[in-house]
Amino acid sequence: MQPLLHLQLTVDELTLRATTEADLPALAATLPDDVELNPALPGADGDARLDRTARVYQQYWRNRADSRPGSWTLPFVVLRDGRILGEQTLEADDFGRLRTVETASWLVSGARGKGIGKRMRLAVLSLAFDHLGAVVAETEAWHHNTASLGVSRSLGYLPNGVYRHLDGDGADDMIRMRMPVETWRQHHGGLGVEIDGLAECLEWLTA
Ligand SMILES: CC(C)(COP(=O)(O)OP(=O)(O)OC[C@H]1O[C@@H](n2cnc3c(N)ncnc32)[C@H](O)[C@@H]1OP(=O)(O)O)[C@@H](O)C(=O)NCCC(=O)NCCS
Repeated sequence: MQPLLHLQLTVDELTLRATTEADLPALAATLPDDVELNPALPGADGDARLDRTARVYQQYWRNRADSRPGSWTLPFVVLRDGRILGEQTLEADDFGRLRTVETASWLVSGARGKGIGKRMRLAVLSLAFDHLGAVVAETEAWHHNTASLGVSRSLGYLPNGVYRHLDGDGADDMIRMRMPVETWRQHHGGLGVEIDGLAECLEWLTA
């Protein structure tokens, strides 16, 4: 849906701009090696870098192809001074009824541990809670991913269960965390996130 590509969020010096096809070469080149990609994607034969590049493109087009009114994945490139620092994704299924969102993100290694992960998560949560009418935000990370779990904990998410997932040839635990809208309003109401381009896609996102 074309209007989605004009969505833009601004928080402090960070800009989150809807990812477009034109961003894919830079995103694939920037993606750090430790960022996990969807193992269900076909990838590419050849060297590891080529395989990861293929998966970045495949994930983008799969998200676009699978999105429909109310069920969508919105990836945003995160920029500071025009430079790509990472990506922040917001997604929902049957949003009109469940009013629940999920998030995922990554940053280049030099940008980590400086509070940027928290601010980019806050930007998409502001879109979800303050503008779309979400009532719950959920997230999930491997039990050892202290940075990702740290962002959630620090923003006020609470533990929401431990789930076993396939991991490479074996299996491991993922921690789910959850923030209801009441926590959002109590801790983050009145946050200064500027949102552009929403009017044209609001009905489609909240269907
Ligand atoms: C996950 C990620 C986006 C977090 O962003 P970040 O900018 O590094 O995180 P922040 O600096 O905003 O830190 C958020 C909180 O987590 C804590 N934290 C961050 N890194 C941490 C670490 N390595 N160990 C323990 N705590 C950590 C911080 O102290 C902070 O909490 P506080 O404000 O209460 O002190 C980033 O680390 C990343 O790209 N990781 C690799 C990709 C990835 O794993 N993505 C998540 C997949 S589910």
